[in-house]
Amino acid sequence: MKNVDVFFQPKRIAVVGASADSKKIGHQILKNIIDGGYEGEIIPINPSAPEVLGHKAYKSLSDVAPGVDMVVITIPSHLVLGAMQECARCKAKGVAIITSGFGEVGKIKEELELKKIADDNNISLLGPNIFGLAYAPAKLNASFGPKDIYPGKIAFITQSGALGIGLMGWTVMKKIGLAALVNLGNKSDVDELDMIHYFNKDKNVDVILIYMEGIKDGIKFLKTKIEKPTVVLKVGRSSRGAKAAASHTGSLSGSDKIYDAVFNQLGIMRASTFTEAFSWARALSLPSPTGDDVVIITNGGGIGVATTDECENQGLKILDDPEWLETKFRPTMPDFGSTKNPIDVTGGAGVEGYRKAIEIALAEEKVKSVIVLYCETAVTDPMGIAECITELYDASGRQKPVVVSMVGGERTRDALTYLNANNIPGSSLVDGTVSALKIVHTWRDIKARQKSELVIEQLPAKINDVFDAVRKEGRDILMEHEARLVMELCGVPTPPWAFVQSADEAVKVADQKQMYPLAMKIASPDIVHKTDVGGVVLNIRDGQELREKFNSMMEKIKQKQPTAKLLGVNLIKMVSGIECIIGTTTDPQFGAAVMFGLGGVFVEALKDVAFRVVPFDEKEAERLIGEIKAKKILEGFRGMSADKPSIIKTLIAIQKLAPYVKEIDINPLLTNQNGSYAVDARIVLKSEGSSTSNHGH
Ligand code: COA
Repeated sequence: MKNVDVFFQPKRIAVVGASADSKKIGHQILKNIIDGGYEGEIIPINPSAPEVLGHKAYKSLSDVAPGVDMVVITIPSHLVLGAMQECARCKAKGVAIITSGFGEVGKIKEELELKKIADDNNISLLGPNIFGLAYAPAKLNASFGPKDIYPGKIAFITQSGALGIGLMGWTVMKKIGLAALVNLGNKSDVDELDMIHYFNKDKNVDVILIYMEGIKDGIKFLKTKIEKPTVVLKVGRSSRGAKAAASHTGSLSGSDKIYDAVFNQLGIMRASTFTEAFSWARALSLPSPTGDDVVIITNGGGIGVATTDECENQGLKILDDPEWLETKFRPTMPDFGSTKNPIDVTGGAGVEGYRKAIEIALAEEKVKSVIVLYCETAVTDPMGIAECITELYDASGRQKPVVVSMVGGERTRDALTYLNANNIPGSSLVDGTVSALKIVHTWRDIKARQKSELVIEQLPAKINDVFDAVRKEGRDILMEHEARLVMELCGVPTPPWAFVQSADEAVKVADQKQMYPLAMKIASPDIVHKTDVGGVVLNIRDGQELREKFNSMMEKIKQKQPTAKLLGVNLIKMVSGIECIIGTTTDPQFGAAVMFGLGGVFVEALKDVAFRVVPFDEKEAERLIGEIKAKKILEGFRGMSADKPSIIKTLIAIQKLAPYVKEIDINPLLTNQNGSYAVDARIVLKSEGSSTSNHGH
């Protein structure tokens, strides 16, 4: 982990490449540092100018007293290595390299040289290829973006530079308050994790917002500890976007579903759009609700219904206690108003109408969150209402989340700006407003999660023995009975099964284990597609049928594939239930991951699956199951029912194997009210010598 304090609390800053030419980036950065009001020592470095922007300049860093906290480098790329060596000699603590032309254009070696100097000399290196950084509490703007940021409590970490500069101006316009704005660029050294670690401890920051194109070190990222609400906008969801991101940053982009899994597991909230990301970041400075019940106050029926729909859509609960609502809110409205939540104070309600209803909603313990809606009318004043909301919210001590949606013209726009400037999330679109409230609930739930330190466990010796025996035979795919044995050894529930080598043995074992009706499948290392050679028979009901089918199967296969070595057959008791699929994969970035979804048509047509990276616990497995779109089916649907505890047990068992194999496919896992059963399992081993992803988080 790199120490990044030096970028936010530097006492001495040098700008290498500070130029008197106002068109140059080195000039603009120095100017922003000076104009921003930074109070520490400012040291321009320029080979020919005696002073720049009123500050004495030095020919080289070597002429400056050692111990500069932060050096900003803005000179052409071929000169950067020399400047970096000087930084090391003068014992700089942090270096921000603005210069482009390194890893992002294929100059990986050059970038690694910079990183090596940083590592060897205990320097934290930001960039290269960045527009700089700004930190409002230190009045520091060491960027070539706009002069001002709108001060607030969000730390915005962006991988992209140009986008970051653009958003700097946009956040001012939108009154989105930033404490910090940091551009990571190529992330040759300092990365998101270092920044999150710092901002977790920074009193000036309430919310962390990250724009990300890819992660360079997935295993390191998995160690991220989320202590403050953290929102990520990770682009590259589409395969084309992912390619663009990879070429843009030189970083490998893992599968997007795995990124989803990682963010989910770490408790990072992933937004889909810029609007959503900033709206969430703003909302997350609201207090956490102490319960679920939402009250909606509106002056219009339509917007109230739309908001109610959206609440249901996003999983927010509307307070539903008609008698209580009637008693409390009736006095706030005319006779034709409605207390049914949405509380409709009616179209004529001006500031006073809203005031009464909002006061009650804020004061009553039973109301956990408040949504205020307003449609502009000629007889009401949107700014008056915005001021009233702000005044009441402040007077109440901001105990519960309040969000506002206002629809109207320019007067309404100004009212929304006023609300946002006062840290009350206001939007003209109800879906955005509901989503802002929803994210506050999401963060509350993330905070409540119990955090446990997890490690990847050793593979049990007995399973290792099975794998070794398979490898000894020169195979990497386990045969069915081997895979079933492994399932049993790691605690995955399977239907009663047996591997037998003769018809007599088959009948005896099937009787003993009460396996009827059963399926019989040929066991042969030489037969891949069992059905094609008649190697699968289903629904065998008794011993006589079993004997007949055993003999006829052997004959048929001997005819069709005479050279195949026939070891025997697997007998499996037939079970019924909802088809699920559990699989594992090895992600190049994050290591072993486990997938879960409903099987059959759901997995093929809808790709309705979700992942978790290894290791994870039971709670996380439960969340994984709850993440698939077809989860309702598992919750009991039209007579079908599932046994979630045994699915969770299977997921936990499978994750223990995942780091030690190339892939596992349990398809199907059948689940019914009595339990879940791995009906078929395929296990492929890693090629010898490939490493086991071994990390904990
Ligand atoms: N030490 C100190 N100053 C030095 C120097 C050194 N070793 N070598 C050169 N300089 C001075 C130059 O003399 C010049 O000052 P001057 O105007 O007084 O002569 C200044 O540094 C800048 O050098 P110059 O050659 O004029 O470069 P430039 O300003 O045209 O370009 C970069 C430099 C860094 C801006 C450019 O190489 C670059 O990378 N641009 C892209 C930046 C970017 O987009 N980053 C990502 C943002 S998203």
